Amino acid sequence: MINRRDNSMEERILKLKQERNAVILAHNYQYGEVQDIADYVGDSLELSRIAARTDADVIVFCGVHFMAETAFILSPEKTVLLPDAGAGCPMADMITAEQLRQKKMELPGATVVTYVNSTAEVKAESDYCCTSANGVKVVTQIDNEEILFVPDQFLGKFIISRTGREMTLWPGYCPTHVNISPEDINRCKRDYPGAKIVVHPECRPEVIALADEALSTSGIIRYAGRADIRELIVGTEVEILHRLKKENPGKKFIPASEKAICPDMKLITLDKVLKSLETMTPEVKVPEEIRVKAKAAVDRMLEIV
Ligand code: 13P
Ligand code: SF4
Repeated sequence: MINRRDNSMEERILKLKQERNAVILAHNYQYGEVQDIADYVGDSLELSRIAARTDADVIVFCGVHFMAETAFILSPEKTVLLPDAGAGCPMADMITAEQLRQKKMELPGATVVTYVNSTAEVKAESDYCCTSANGVKVVTQIDNEEILFVPDQFLGKFIISRTGREMTLWPGYCPTHVNISPEDINRCKRDYPGAKIVVHPECRPEVIALADEALSTSGIIRYAGRADIRELIVGTEVEILHRLKKENPGKKFIPASEKAICPDMKLITLDKVLKSLETMTPEVKVPEEIRVKAKAAVDRMLEIV
């Protein structure tokens, strides 16, 4: 059934988007209706690459604060809008720039690799950024025995398991992904014995150990598209099922846990996207001195294909 109000809201968003020469980027965890009005839906790496090359004047970032900040770091001449200024990432807030400076003093020879789920100030103190899609590649090509990885201990442990490299880990974590337990995966396996299991590398190691693959959100989308996948247990934020179902009619997707919800991602709604385009707020900016330093770490990541 067509909802008249929502339909007209979508039309108003699309009209304003044209008038403003805006591009709408949406993360794979956004509400389905927000994904559906976006120009691009993707993982953190894909969206930052798009933000770096778009010729739009305005980027409406439907995601969380660090993602909008990364878009600004790469494209400071553009207006970057985050439709709800309160959409943060608790993991990103688990390390401050001051804490990282302290840790660097303890490990003066270490190369600092920072998950893109971090503030611009923390990126500015880092040598490399990485996302869940390229963390293994980034760490593999670092020519230093000593690596400090912040802030996600579980992505860090996953990278260690895949690269055999030693790293000092910061004890951060994603409150949404730690909600997924090995019991959840085992229950799904009992209910769907023929299903494959894919999880996000922010999950706990004991959850990753039960999975066939641990991939970034868009990695999960590509994996689900494989011809041999008919049933898939999915260990990440539940909204990813919108795109999985849309792109794979006829396949069965089972959320590993209904509790894997990111409340910050859920702050972005269609009416806030419209309001944001109407008022050209809330804008995300980064002071130039921090931006330039943070960009060096992000650029080093983007150079790694
Ligand atoms: P992706 O880069 O895999 O999309 O992950 C971002 C994120 O915040 C996962 O919780
Ligand atoms: Fe941050 Fe976790 Fe939400 Fe991703 S799912 S944005 S890591 S809190």
